[in-house]
Amino acid sequence: MSTAKAYAATNATSSLALTTIPRREPIPYDVQLDILFCGICHSDLHQVRNEWSGVMPTVYPCVPGHEIVGRVTNVGSAVTKFKTGDLAAVGCMVDSDRTCSECQAGLEQFCGNATLTYNFPDRHLGGVTYGGYSESIVVDERFVLRVPSNLDLAGAAPLLCAGITTYSPMRHWGVTRGKKVGVVGLGGLGHMAVKFARALGTHVVVFTTSPNKIKDALRLGADEVVISRHADEMKKHVGSFDFILDAVSADHDITAYIELLRRDGNITLVGAPEKPLSVPAFSLIFGRRSLSGSPIGGIAETQEMLDFCGTHNITADVEVIPIQKVNEAYDRLLKSDVKYRFSIDMASLTSK
Ligand SMILES: NC(=O)c1ccc[n+]([C@@H]2O[C@H](COP(=O)([O-])OP(=O)(O)OC[C@H]3O[C@@H](n4cnc5c(N)ncnc54)[C@H](OP(=O)(O)O)[C@@H]3O)[C@@H](O)[C@H]2O)c1
Ligand SMILES: [Zn+2]
Ligand SMILES: [Zn+2]
Repeated sequence: MSTAKAYAATNATSSLALTTIPRREPIPYDVQLDILFCGICHSDLHQVRNEWSGVMPTVYPCVPGHEIVGRVTNVGSAVTKFKTGDLAAVGCMVDSDRTCSECQAGLEQFCGNATLTYNFPDRHLGGVTYGGYSESIVVDERFVLRVPSNLDLAGAAPLLCAGITTYSPMRHWGVTRGKKVGVVGLGGLGHMAVKFARALGTHVVVFTTSPNKIKDALRLGADEVVISRHADEMKKHVGSFDFILDAVSADHDITAYIELLRRDGNITLVGAPEKPLSVPAFSLIFGRRSLSGSPIGGIAETQEMLDFCGTHNITADVEVIPIQKVNEAYDRLLKSDVKYRFSIDMASLTSK
């Protein structure tokens, strides 16, 4: 066993602070990475503050981070995909049982025995897994991804969660050229959704509560931007969308968006607010509309998404910060004040 410096929260109200965590020595299929960049996902904040206590209660100390890009420093004897010196990435999962029907179908995100990158039982060391706000990580090569060499690394890190979480439902729901697609909430996930919807050739409409994001939304690829608090602007779009991706992190009126779907249109929730949302039955019944949710994506699809980003030169728009600013970043995330993802330069963890 070795140790690594990391940033952890010790309870639901504490700031994150420097600590030391254990990491296993690589076993035959393991890849060890020095972490270069780790994105800050709003899920990190929900988890650190135990806002999902009913579904995934937080075990402290909690080291979040599942948007990891790093360099391989060591590999186990059976590893074939990576060698020392390679760039590599790790997302939201580090293991699964690999035998169930979901795993066999390449949908590890639905495996009942999947191990998430942090706050999940650690099969090797006991306790829970620790995420990417750390110097290094050791992961089975089957859960390690390749990063296209043309991508900026700080901007590539958020692809591992914000990227796959928005790419996967768009592929699943047949978002293709000519469709009208809405993106609700222009944060980390939302801005990736706009880039993908644009690259897939759709007509993209962004719904935002932040008037100061209008220009950016258009620059990122939106064809139209709607200030969602303006009822008259919303009305113009009633019954017109094929697909809407809702990436809002807090309580909001989802019915207003369901009404914007055309017949058989779908709205997919990727945002995971702390409190339940209320949905009137008739908003779905009229128009045979559907409401669904979607978690991250499988490993094969994550690699497909990274390769798609390589081809289309897509990365997140990031504000690179040192780890010492992580608590400030969380406060800003809560105010929707990030353009559009924080990416932690992990060199700051060891340099002081
Ligand atoms: N399903 C999954 O697998 C998965 C994966 C990753 C993250 N998530 C969840 O997805 C959500 C978004 O994550 P993120 O990292 O993109 O967060 P984020 O960067 O904080 O973006 C959330 C956006 O939601 C909008 N928003 C915030 N508060 C709002 C309110 N009270 N009313 C209306 N809109 C509001 C804001 O956009 P505007 O300023 O444009 O209004 C904000 O930028 C989180 O709940 C996260 O946990 C789910
Ligand atoms: Zn995430
Ligand atoms: Zn499985």
